[in-house]
This record gives sequence, C-alpha cells and structure tokens, in this order.
Amino acid sequence: MRVLVVGGGAREHALGQALVRAGAELVVASPQANPGLERLARGSLRVDLDQAVRIADFGERQEIDYAAIGPEAPLAAGVSDALRAREIPVVGPSQAGAQIETSKWFCRELLRRHQVPGQPRWSSPASIEEVDARIAEFATPFVIKPSGLTAGKGVWVQGADFPDPRPGAAYAKSLIAQGQRVLLEERLEGEEFSQMAFVTDSGIYPMPAVQDFKRALEGDKGGNTGGMGSYSQRDHLLPFLDAAHREAAIDILRASVAALRAEGIEYRGILYGGFMLTAQGPKLLEFNARFGDPEGINAMTLYEEGNFDELLYGVACGRVDPNLVQFRLRATVLKYLVPPGYGDRAQPGGVLTIDEPRIEEAGVHVYFGSVEAAGPGAVRLGASRGIALIGEASAIHEAGARVEAALAHVAGTYYVRHDIGTLADLARRREHMRSLFAPGAKPSPLPLSVAAPDAPPSSAAPADLRT
Ligand code: AMP
Ligand code: GLY
Repeated sequence: MRVLVVGGGAREHALGQALVRAGAELVVASPQANPGLERLARGSLRVDLDQAVRIADFGERQEIDYAAIGPEAPLAAGVSDALRAREIPVVGPSQAGAQIETSKWFCRELLRRHQVPGQPRWSSPASIEEVDARIAEFATPFVIKPSGLTAGKGVWVQGADFPDPRPGAAYAKSLIAQGQRVLLEERLEGEEFSQMAFVTDSGIYPMPAVQDFKRALEGDKGGNTGGMGSYSQRDHLLPFLDAAHREAAIDILRASVAALRAEGIEYRGILYGGFMLTAQGPKLLEFNARFGDPEGINAMTLYEEGNFDELLYGVACGRVDPNLVQFRLRATVLKYLVPPGYGDRAQPGGVLTIDEPRIEEAGVHVYFGSVEAAGPGAVRLGASRGIALIGEASAIHEAGARVEAALAHVAGTYYVRHDIGTLADLARRREHMRSLFAPGAKPSPLPLSVAAPDAPPSSAAPADLRT
C-alpha cells in the first residue's frame, strides 16, 4: 500500500522503516528533511505540521491508501480531519479525540465525568486569585501543569523543580496570566511507565509496557525532556511492573476509550497512557494520542513478522485482525544521542560521524531525529534529540550493553545517558517500588544476581495481550 507518514523525527523514521520492511510505499510530510526517511520515501513534502489542508492535498495528489500521523502537532491542527474529509483513512484521532492529549483539563474532566479509575487528586484554579487556596487544599507536595501541549517540559514537580509552595504558586499564576489553564495535581510517588495500545472501533490492542527516561541527566537529574531513552522487558512487563498492575493500566485505557465514545468521539489510532505505578496501583499522569517518542520505537522494534502495513491500515479503517498484533518476547533498550546541554540550553551544530553499517551489523538500529545530513556518514545535530540507537537481547542489561558498544562507531560531541538499561539502574527502580509497597520496611539492597535476569515470560504472552 502507499502510505503517508506525517512527521520527521526518529519515531517517524522507525515507523517508515517498519512500513517499508512490510512492503509499503512511503511518502512523507515533514518540516525538515530527515536523512533516514529521505532514503526510504518515494516523495516528500516540506511543510509545517499544522498545515492541515496542504498535507491533505499532498496525500490526495500522491494517491495514498492511508496516512499515519507521528507527532501531536498535526493531530492538534486537525490533519486527521482534513484527510478523512477526503475519504483517506488515518492512523490518528480527530482533533476532538486528540484533546485527550492536547488539553489535560479536557482529559481529567472527561475521566471524572465517566468515573475512570486511577486518577490523582487534582484541581484547576479558575483565576490567579484562586491559586493559593487551591494549593493549600493539597497539604502534600503537588505538581503544576499547563493544560496545553508542552512537549513534556512545562510541568513543575515540587521537590524536583521547586522546593516549597511559594515558587510553585508564582509559576501557576504566571501561566494563568499568559492566558493558560493550569492543573494542580497531588505529586505521585512511584515508578513511571508507558502503556500504549492500538485503538480500533471494536477494542484496544496493547503493546509491550515501556519505561521512558524523562529527565535530562543520569540518575534522573536535570530538567524534564521529551525522553532520553527507554527500555522494555522480554515478557512485556517491567522490572517493577507485574502483570496485574499492567492489566489495571490497560483497563484504564479501555475505560477512557469508552468515555470518549460515550461522548460521541470516535478514536482510531494509538492511545498512550503515561502512568505512575504507586503503592495504590497505577495512576494516570497523562494521555498522548500517538506513539511515544521514544517508546513507540521500542514497540515497533518488537513487532513480529506479521504485516505492519496491514496492521496500520486496519487501525486506520477501525478494524484489525487480532492475529496481526504480535510482539516478540525480547528486551529492548533505546538511547538518544543529544546535543550537549540538551534539557537546559542545547548547543546544536556539532557534527557526528556515524558508521551505520557497523552498528546495524552489531544488531543495533539507528533512527535519525533532529539532525541534518552533513556529507557521507555524517550528520549535524539540531537543538533536540538527535539519533536514537536501539538494541535488543533477551535481558534488558544485555540490550543496553549492545547500545553502549555501538557508541564506539559514533564520533563527535554529544550527550547520552549511560545509566539507561544498566543493572544498577534496574535494581534501583525495583528497590524503589519494593520500598513503596512495604512502607516502613528497611530497603535491602538487591544482590546483583537477583537483579540481573529479567523475569521469565509470564502468562501474558502475546496471544493473551489482546483484548
Ligand atoms: P506529563 O506531561 O503530564 O506527563 O508530565 C511530565 C512529567 O512530569 C511526567 O512524566 C512525570 O515525571 C511528572 N509528573 C506529571 N504529573 C505528575 C504527578 N501528578 N506526580 C508526580 N510527577 C508527575
Ligand atoms: N516519551 C514521551 C512522549 O512521547 O510524550
């Protein structure tokens, strides 16, 4: 089939690669030329991603069978609606459905109306004058979020981004003064994970759970970013996430799709829940209406031989063959190479030389993000996440070691989080969760022999992951 991929980052490079591998013909609409996608595409349009009519015109001219939308900006701008108005099926919800991501206030209100479980305590001050009173109601650490899109970077967490309520209140007031709606939420304590699913008219089809590393620096220090890397475990659970908690998160996704539908909003595409596993079970931090970047790359890497083109076409048309939704039982680790200073003040412009054939030979895949071609085997870093390297193995730390080994084939100045997917980091997360589940219990350091192997494949094998 002929498919239009909208977007030009590493997630879209991976999406395009998975489609071409399945025999699809690819055309691309993106603001900048992605060196990876350019190699794969039969045609491309340079366009800002909010240009719904231009993108839909391009799709029509290219006689595409369907479109797959990567990032949130085109969903927010109604690109899906413009394509559907021309009877082109789309992987991606309408502008109305995408509000579940584009307006955190819409999302929380919807889930409150329909009593979807797993929500933190939250409120939304109607005016600057109300902020102090609403904050006082929490009496516990809290979080401030602009309701609109912030690329994960506008959220302030007490204890991490500000020490006590006063600067938090000032931040909330400054956002309201700029005309933004603000959400206050209780600060949840636990480990974060991402649970994505394909959403069709007849049900949802979960992907493996993934953990994203949001903070810029090793040890989860530094500012919130779009995600510095991610890993997934062989059994599609995570070192700190068991099958029951994952199922509870999937139930929240299912109930949320039902809530949208109950309000007359159809949804065909990807639903991504960002969860915090707390001592009380999974709580929803946010929804995204698309593949995570990077988490979507982990999921696409694990997609079985089944035909990804056919699967996405099915999602776009609202009906998939459940046999097409199969993910391999392997662990993955992804690390982003970013410009120095990324997460605070990025210094773009550095040139990296990258020996792609050697890296691929070693079983690690390369996906290009915010980079431009700079001659044979070289790219220039932009201001955002530059190159994703993803490796797989039977255990997470082995996949992480593969990516680390691949770094020997990249020369130049960049920053990467070496701690992602290491045994020490996995043990720390497992122990963190264990100490929360047993409050008062003295945290005991995990011997490495216990921390090392991933859990054996659980009963949640792919066939059981379908809903
Ligand atoms: P969001 O854009 O809502 O996913 O928030 C970005 C990041 O802020 C999340 O990935 C968390 O690390 C953090 N965060 C958001 N909401 C909360 C919360 N209620 N409690 C603790 N951390 C949060
Ligand atoms: N990795 C976070 C996101 O895709 O929003």
